Amino acid sequence: MSTPRLTIDPAFVVGPVRRRTFGSFVEHLGRCVYTGIHDPGHPTADEDGFRGDVVELVKELGISTVRYPGGNFVSGYRWEDGIGPVEDRPRRLDLAWHSTEPNTVGLDEFMVWAAKAGVEPMMAINLGTRGVHEAMDVLEYTNIAGGTMLSDLRRANGAEEPYRVSMWCLGNEMDGPWQTGHKTPEEYGRLAAETARAMRQIQPDLELVACGSSSSSMATFGTWEHTVLTETYDLVDLISAHAYYCEGDSDLGSFLASAVDMDHFIDSVAATADAVRAAGKHTKRINISFDEWNVWDQARVESYIPSPTGDDWPVAPSLLEDHYTVADAVVVGNLLISLLRHTDRVHSASQAQLVNVIAPIMTEPGGRAWKQTIFHPFALTSRHAKGDVLQVVLESPTYETTRFGEVPLLDAVATFDAESGELTVFAVNRSQEEALPLAIDLRDGAYELVEAVTYSSDDHAWQASADDDTSVLPVANTTATVDGATVTATLPAVSWSMFRLARG
Ligand code: AHR
Repeated sequence: MSTPRLTIDPAFVVGPVRRRTFGSFVEHLGRCVYTGIHDPGHPTADEDGFRGDVVELVKELGISTVRYPGGNFVSGYRWEDGIGPVEDRPRRLDLAWHSTEPNTVGLDEFMVWAAKAGVEPMMAINLGTRGVHEAMDVLEYTNIAGGTMLSDLRRANGAEEPYRVSMWCLGNEMDGPWQTGHKTPEEYGRLAAETARAMRQIQPDLELVACGSSSSSMATFGTWEHTVLTETYDLVDLISAHAYYCEGDSDLGSFLASAVDMDHFIDSVAATADAVRAAGKHTKRINISFDEWNVWDQARVESYIPSPTGDDWPVAPSLLEDHYTVADAVVVGNLLISLLRHTDRVHSASQAQLVNVIAPIMTEPGGRAWKQTIFHPFALTSRHAKGDVLQVVLESPTYETTRFGEVPLLDAVATFDAESGELTVFAVNRSQEEALPLAIDLRDGAYELVEAVTYSSDDHAWQASADDDTSVLPVANTTATVDGATVTATLPAVSWSMFRLARG
């Protein structure tokens, strides 16, 4: 086998690295909000009840935007339940997660937390059980400066200045039969168009996201996007995509190649949007908000945390608390590679979710916050992907998978910051058996190696826990060397790596 080769030239630009690629998601689900970001009794809690240790980890993770308040939760949510004096707020059944929502945290509290965490809020509105009117109301409350009933109510509730939220999701996963108020593409497309039109009458420059498919395996995938965009094209800016991956009952080789599916998903949605553009003689392009993505093994989670049923409607139960392996982290790193290489069409993305619920950050009630394995590739990619994403050429051996056929063993992307001269390569080795050499050909030469790190373990099933989240950490890859315009390194089996280079 000849040495796998990655050829990089800073002249071949795909598009800018978008900070919004590094978004996340906070849903009223399980312990994401309550005992996750908000835990007034916790030793690190601030005057508003927000955990300081979690805010610090959110900053370390490098989160840009946070989508809120759902998710499936939003499709039955009444936003006005969560404003005003906390003691007057109603407790409600949350049908999506068979829980009781106490409404202790609502829109104003979330905005306070977002400011503390230094993230941009991305709001989702309820188009499941609600419609145009309620969307107008929540927008007025959130973004109008004052002088109207709802904007003055916000001021009376303590927020003098409008929040000026730019990105709004028009509902959530409306293609899914599990969704409260699930709709056909025709029904949803019409409602989304009417809602978008009214919202734009209030504020023309909003960035609106229409619901796309909740996975590429939905029977309606493709026709859903086509119908919805035909109805909404001139009224929205983005269409959403959601994807969760797990080994499940397939094979590890297919799971490790999950980014192949994400690539296909993004390319298909972009092609569908462009087909609607051509047919409708539109000029603008619709881009993609990949606003839910992650590894999520539902069967694994249910085996240790069964969901509530029957008369049991708990407040903030432990739900979807997936414990991630090293292999999961490699897949997450690879999914970020996929998102970055599509930076021309993926203009926003949110890993689902942020804390406790299929999350990189976990909290012990009253105790410590800790990092899951998937924390590491996310934090390093967010910190070091800068400037422009480059189109790279990768020559890699392949392997056979049951889900995707023949796929490359290696995958990679590079970013280049012309201002600082910093070039960063992110790469994965999907092989379960062998370490692979990689030669990075820098063509225009003269780089020094600043840092080479790899995340892997001989035991790729290792999971972090509250007692041990440090046994497997990203470590220096000591095999990396530079010789002229070529960097060579060995990538261990089932690994994610980052190489930082500086123009000499
Ligand atoms: O992120 C968990 C859930 O997954 C979200 O609520 C929903 O939108 C998706 O099905």
